[in-house]
Amino acid sequence: MRKKVTVIGAGNVGATAAMRLAEKELADVALIDILEGVPAGKALDLTEAAPIEKHDAKIIGATGDYAQAKDSDIIIITAGIPRKPGMSRDDLLSTNMGIMRSVTKEVAAVAPNATLIIVSNPLDAMCHVAYEASGFPKNKVIGMAGVLDSARFRAFIAMELDVSVENTHAFVLGGHGDTMVPLPRYSTVAGIPITELMSQERIDALVERTRTGGAEIVGLLKTGSAYYAPASAAVEMAEAILKDKKKILPCAVCLNGEYGIHDLFIGVPVKLGENGVEEIIEIELTDSEKEALNHSADAVRKLVEDMKRLG
Ligand code: APR
Repeated sequence: MRKKVTVIGAGNVGATAAMRLAEKELADVALIDILEGVPAGKALDLTEAAPIEKHDAKIIGATGDYAQAKDSDIIIITAGIPRKPGMSRDDLLSTNMGIMRSVTKEVAAVAPNATLIIVSNPLDAMCHVAYEASGFPKNKVIGMAGVLDSARFRAFIAMELDVSVENTHAFVLGGHGDTMVPLPRYSTVAGIPITELMSQERIDALVERTRTGGAEIVGLLKTGSAYYAPASAAVEMAEAILKDKKKILPCAVCLNGEYGIHDLFIGVPVKLGENGVEEIIEIELTDSEKEALNHSADAVRKLVEDMKRLG
């Protein structure tokens, strides 16, 4: 039977994710938004590209009609507002938490067995909202951040060393914000740690560019935030789940004492398969890496507290 993925939010990230899902023939796609006509228009446009792109995925678009999400295997939630120049992801909190809560309730009712992939920002806080609003088990609520942050780090490593991006691996832990924790020790080119390939000064520069990678793009686009790489990252996670690949990827998941952190969504390496998060992988961290992860966890915890105050 064909797999089904529903994408909530037919904006830049959502429509790009729908396109990639269809072109990789991973699933049929339902695109849902509050805007009148837009999801249907984008779905039709993508459908008309199918003969040229050579795929048979069915793509439909709907305005507010959550029946279209029925029995989805995966729901990717991108609904919400993006950043503008000068804004941090945290500035989106009060607007996006309301949107996240309402759309999650809608999809959980029609697709109770789906896995949720959360994309809206501030990411780790939005995972908490989706987890609470859905009532889904912890393994079925997963935030997209680490795959994107690692991809940015990989792209910068490949540019720096003039090597194929395919040779690169990178790990970025922690919250999806300025406190994220890129781990150069675990970042490699053809298996060789980058600490053996570049000076500490260059590594520090790439780490900093990774941390501020989202803001760099917001500064260039002016009217919104990155969407090609975020959509690619969400689709890589969806593919791992749809194909039961048991792929290890950094994702925001709810920790139960792993890394000494309790009841908090934060980015760590996990194994993704048909049951969503199938394993949380604990890697050895140095004292300074642990300190950086705890600092990042404190920043996420503060947002969760802020949300309680906002109600
Ligand atoms: N239900 C459904 N869709 C909604 C709702 C809602 N309640 N509220 C807003 N949307 C839709 C908007 O109508 C818009 O089409 O979400 C879409 C968001 O698209 P864009 O404005 O293009 O934003 P995008 O760049 O896709 O980013 C979406 O992902 O990366 C994060 O920080 C980013 O939080 C932002 C989200």
